[in-house]
Amino acid sequence: MTDPQALGVYVHWPYCAKICPYCDFNVVRDRRQAEQADLADAILADLEAQRTLTGPRRLVSVFLGGGTPSLMDPQRAADIVATARRLWEATPDLEVSLEANPTDAEAGRFGAFRAAGVTRLSLGLQSFDDEALKFLGRNHDAAEARRAATLAARTFPRLSVDMIYALPGQTVAAWTDQLRAAIALGAEHVSPYQLTIEAGTAFDRAVGRGQFKSADDETGAALYAATQSVLEAAGFEAYEVSNHARGAAARSRHNLVYWRGQDYVGVGPGAHGRLALHGVRTATEAARKVGDYIGQVRETGLGFRDPEALSPVEAAEERLLMGLRTYEGVGIEELAALGLTASHPAVAGLVEQGLLAEDPQRLRATPAGRFVLDGVTRALIVGAS
Ligand SMILES: C[S@@+](CC[C@H](N)C(=O)[O-])C[C@H]1O[C@@H](n2cnc3c(N)ncnc32)[C@H](O)[C@@H]1O
Ligand code: SF4
Repeated sequence: MTDPQALGVYVHWPYCAKICPYCDFNVVRDRRQAEQADLADAILADLEAQRTLTGPRRLVSVFLGGGTPSLMDPQRAADIVATARRLWEATPDLEVSLEANPTDAEAGRFGAFRAAGVTRLSLGLQSFDDEALKFLGRNHDAAEARRAATLAARTFPRLSVDMIYALPGQTVAAWTDQLRAAIALGAEHVSPYQLTIEAGTAFDRAVGRGQFKSADDETGAALYAATQSVLEAAGFEAYEVSNHARGAAARSRHNLVYWRGQDYVGVGPGAHGRLALHGVRTATEAARKVGDYIGQVRETGLGFRDPEALSPVEAAEERLLMGLRTYEGVGIEELAALGLTASHPAVAGLVEQGLLAEDPQRLRATPAGRFVLDGVTRALIVGAS
């Protein structure tokens, strides 16, 4: 594993001004509840308690995600960042990311988040097309998206933008225009996500009623291929399935923590963590409901109950799933518990099909393999067992 001392911190802020019809993240409507102060206190206490579990580590990243953490009082963000820095020794290039919605783009507010220590804004633009934004139930229009991106590029050292594609009826030409618009705004990191109809969402019910259909496989494949070629031509490297960066410095350090199998503390409602406890990779999951999370922290100091020690096979399977998503793949020695070697028939078969690169040291998916990654990982896990 790369740098076992590295540690990331994920903070979940669940409030949103409006719940989008496609979203199945752990979110609640922001009604300016009094509970927000209690939640912020619980997050700080949970960080303190988890420090006793991790011991001293090198803090490489803090990610304020959600939900919509750009709705948070910037002073709360400053307290969280300062607490994380006090608890763990921060690397000089500590990355502090904040997920933001364009509606929260206001110079004073963005400036306050920058002063709080945020170095990287992850802006949920989704589209520059007013009709598409309306369909997605967003509470911002294309002009606001542009304004937010311009202000963000001026305020933060690093800017990433999220875009959604494969909307009903979207053509390759229309999607290509959207991507070009994002590039023109100066984003150095783009995360394009294919619209997924998640169970239990308003979109799921709308599809059930026959109101619209999601894109078929062929259209999805054409849009994915166009994404790769447009971004590659503009100098973006696909360093992960849905993440493209212009140069190594623009890659998300936080995402690399996940994909390299490094440890991360998860705080806030429903946050997941992965920690080496007594030398064993351990999964943590905080209570999902805001009230339950606050209650849990008040009772025990920690936001989660029952941490789950992963077996060597479970840990290696997770490492494989995460590692194959990235350009760097996963070191074969990290997959010893699965018995996978470069000459294993499951590996050799996938190399022959052009889905894995031929490499005696690492398992790496080829671009064709990344497109059918679920099948590749399944073939490896089934083949190994
Ligand atoms: C946790 S969300 C939050 C960011 C922020 N609240 C926002 O909406 O802009 C992160 C990203 O996931 C993507 N996303 C969420 N649900 C999705 C879905 N069902 N299909 C595709 N992308 C989705 C969106 O691009 C979104 O920006
Ligand atoms: S997509 Fe973003 S703003 Fe919309 S509900 Fe999900 S987290 Fe909230």
